[in-house]
Amino acid sequence: MHNKIILITGANAGIGKSTVKGLAQEGAKVIMACRKKEKGDLAKAEIERHYPKAKLEVIECNLASFHSVKNAASQILQSYEHIDVLINNAGLFSSHKKMTEDGVEMQFGVNHLGHFLLTKLLLPLIEKSSYPKIINVSSVAHLHGTIDFDNLKDGKTPYNGLEAYAQSKLANVLFTRGLARKYPNIASHCLHPGVVNTSFGNKYSKWYLSLFWHFWKIFMLSSEQGAATSIHLATSDRLPKGKALFFDEKQKMRSFSDMAKNDILVKKLWDYSEQLIEEV
Ligand SMILES: NC(=O)c1ccc[n+]([C@@H]2O[C@H](COP(=O)([O-])OP(=O)(O)OC[C@H]3O[C@@H](n4cnc5c(N)ncnc54)[C@H](OP(=O)(O)O)[C@@H]3O)[C@@H](O)[C@H]2O)c1
Repeated sequence: MHNKIILITGANAGIGKSTVKGLAQEGAKVIMACRKKEKGDLAKAEIERHYPKAKLEVIECNLASFHSVKNAASQILQSYEHIDVLINNAGLFSSHKKMTEDGVEMQFGVNHLGHFLLTKLLLPLIEKSSYPKIINVSSVAHLHGTIDFDNLKDGKTPYNGLEAYAQSKLANVLFTRGLARKYPNIASHCLHPGVVNTSFGNKYSKWYLSLFWHFWKIFMLSSEQGAATSIHLATSDRLPKGKALFFDEKQKMRSFSDMAKNDILVKKLWDYSEQLIEEV
């Protein structure tokens, strides 16, 4: 992986931080895109203590703000000539309805739309790689998702956090399929990291969900195990292009949900996402 440049979102914690560790050990240069620069710097320092040869850079990129995403992308476009792998890893689950800076329901806004914008802005750099890859960290939760276009921007009232999360993770899969179709020279794939022992379910959950997540942790994968599929895809030289696959535990899963295989939905979500990033 020497000479490879990898950008990963949500790099300061959980699965993202473990993915950075693994890729840094492989010798890649890793750009850590983080919501808060200070948190990214702390994670970078921790990784460098373990791997002094790690080649890391932290860039602030709050996916809940188009302004922040555009700033991050313009810094990257000025500093790098190509990006080999983009890993759209950041994500959140929230029991309560929250909105992004641009007035979009938070889980759709961060988990999908911020990444949609970042990816589009970085495509000129990604396309310059000799073997470009885009890896979207989705979840098996997408199997329970539907895309509710009537409430996609504003979020449903009353709000169901689990439903909104599943919707956002389905959007990750549909986006991956859209990428594979529109950019056949890029290997675009998505994955489920497993059920992983991170603070993911504790941050913005109702108290009983947070408690459930806490006690369930003993059965969960470690964050290193959760990062294994992202690292495998980022380092593999055998990923196909032009056809999006869904991976779990480094293995290709047999099929997507019917909803995720719907090409009309892929196009509708793509067009709607473009409209949203242009109108605000
Ligand atoms: N853990 C699981 O069991 C599991 C299962 C299936 C899928 N996933 C997916 O795996 C990915 C990583 O989750 P995780 O378990 O590692 O969770 P985590 O430990 O909570 O880490 C999430 C990362 O996303 C970042 N993030 C959240 N909001 C952001 C924003 N507005 N802008 C930029 N970054 C933001 C967080 O930054 P801050 O620290 O600054 O908030 C953090 O770095 C997510 O996409 C999640 O949906 C996780």
